[in-house]
Amino acid sequence: MSPRPAAPAHAGPAPDAGPAHEAALSPDAAPAHEAALDADTALGPQAALDPEAALDPEEIRAPAVLADPYPFFARLRRHDPVHWNAPTGAWYVARYADVYAGLTDPRLAAASSDELLASLTPEQYEAMAPVEEFFGRWLVFSDPPHQLRMRSFLRQAFTPAAVAALGPLIDERAADAADVFGRAVAADPAGADVVEDLARPFAVDVVCALLGIAPDEKSQVLAWSDALMGYLGSTPEELHRAYAAGAAADELTAYVTGTVVPRGEGLVAEALGPGLAAGEVAAEDVTAVFAQLLTGGIEPLGTGLAGTVLALHRSPGQLAAVRRGEIPHAHAVEEALRHDPPFHFAPRRASADLTVGGREIRRGQRVVLLLASANRDERQFPDGERFDARRGPVPHLAFGRGGHFCLGAVLARTQITTALRALERRLPELRLDVAAARRAPSFGKTILRPVPALI
Ligand code: HEM
Repeated sequence: MSPRPAAPAHAGPAPDAGPAHEAALSPDAAPAHEAALDADTALGPQAALDPEAALDPEEIRAPAVLADPYPFFARLRRHDPVHWNAPTGAWYVARYADVYAGLTDPRLAAASSDELLASLTPEQYEAMAPVEEFFGRWLVFSDPPHQLRMRSFLRQAFTPAAVAALGPLIDERAADAADVFGRAVAADPAGADVVEDLARPFAVDVVCALLGIAPDEKSQVLAWSDALMGYLGSTPEELHRAYAAGAAADELTAYVTGTVVPRGEGLVAEALGPGLAAGEVAAEDVTAVFAQLLTGGIEPLGTGLAGTVLALHRSPGQLAAVRRGEIPHAHAVEEALRHDPPFHFAPRRASADLTVGGREIRRGQRVVLLLASANRDERQFPDGERFDARRGPVPHLAFGRGGHFCLGAVLARTQITTALRALERRLPELRLDVAAARRAPSFGKTILRPVPALI
């Protein structure tokens, strides 16, 4: 068993890894909607296992699936929509109705079990237990009451009104980012990359401003963030990653409680500073929130923006319609997030026996709710495999749903749409080398690298 997979907010998992390790591994599932599920699937236990459904269990880790998981997801939806995968020790839930219901099922917990820690050698335990404890404080890896309590401190900072108040800052940073990218394209078109020269710098800039990170502190904070992300999806054999993440968590705690909070700038200092001072909130919880917002504000945001730009450039007709104002930018963003969401699943563990699609799932097992597969389910989205920005806003699951629904969803939508408009104003004739654009092999998330401009 290995540490937390990189689950959303942030980040993604090797199927046989786990959230910190748990994420992709063992399932459980949930309740009341079973009737709805059966009605939806209309299959009943036996039928769920169409003879063709004898998917090769190793397929989930095949290079072709890591390069592009969508054909595999389509096979899962057709042949084995609630798939037990022995090699990774998890259930994979592929259809929209099941994933949609699973995201609100209280019997599907986000917190990982102690199973991993119990399986470690003393040396591994010494390195990994503190890191697991740190990640266990993250909202996305915890359950009520802790998760809800921390969320209640933050909610006000992410309302539509709060995000609207950030409008001028986001506009300004988007214009700056588009300008920097414009100069990079002018200087060396083939060398300019939408992810590295536009999307990620824009995401870093905005989240650092929101969190009160001073410009000269940015590179150090990003180094800590990278060390933490480097642990997600790692294995107990990679103890150097655990040690690096442990050190980063300690240094980040000193920085957040010793510099950011006393300075009183940024949404974490504002939302959690008084609680920390009053001893109502632990320093480790303040840092865990800070780290989750930092990583949540960078990777999926960058992927979401670059993914929208790439999807439009791959559909010249739709790009032209957006540029003519026939398709709202916000609709293109929604469709890109539906069609290829930055995070492909929400990791859960069953806290009770339950049935999904006629499959009996036992308490303690892991359930991988495949958001990216659900988003292409033809039962919910006709012609779901096709990118179609004229579809308009649809109830996709790229931001999850229910108790763990992405706290940054309004902010992310605003940021990506604003950056898309700024890019169009700055480079109305931009062309991308879509043939050279690539997805990096990955299970659990979309990694676009490179996305180069065209001469
Ligand atoms: C396109 C960009 C983004 C995507 C696709 C995304 C996706 C997600 C998903 C799927 C979840 C739920 C995971 C689950 O149910 O296990 C989530 C949770 C979360 N996201 Fe995002 N996210 C994005 C941007 C952001 C931003 C910009 C922030 C904040 C700066 C953020 C902060 C959070 C937090 C705090 C949670 C945990 C909520 C909880 O567990 O209560 N996200 N995100």
